[in-house]
Amino acid sequence: MKILVIHGPNLNKLGVREPAVYGRVTLVQINNSLKAVAKKRKVTLVIKQSNHEGQIVDLIGASAGKKFSGILINPAAYTHTSVAIRDAIAACGIIVVEVHLSNIHSREEFRHQSLISPVAQGTIMGFGAKSYTLGLEALLDLLQIK
Ligand code: DQA
Repeated sequence: MKILVIHGPNLNKLGVREPAVYGRVTLVQINNSLKAVAKKRKVTLVIKQSNHEGQIVDLIGASAGKKFSGILINPAAYTHTSVAIRDAIAACGIIVVEVHLSNIHSREEFRHQSLISPVAQGTIMGFGAKSYTLGLEALLDLLQIK
């Protein structure tokens, strides 16, 4: 069983990027905590980070052919702008869970809308780095991986 994890733009800067908003946890640390969950639940993770919308569309578009069972995604700023990523998710036929470190509803108004949430199975936000492990656990529960 394989799960695709996608980190969107600027998440490679976590740890130094706006720590008052996103905390001090780095992307490497987040990936390590995801790998620990994956090991416990005996699934394989493929983890990608991209600052490019088209690359994310391509990853999602290829996911079914590459036999992924689910996708965990933080679309970052593309959450609020990308019809292309939304359409790729709607078309991919795979369960997708959306995560955010921050609570987008308690921030600037332009962040309040997610174009992704309507096509995701569910969204977890506001728990900092823990949103990711909560999201992965929820995705694996949905896929009935014990
Ligand atoms: C984010 C929230 C987005 O609004 C922002 O553009 C990000 C990170 C989050 O995880 O809280 O880059 O997705």
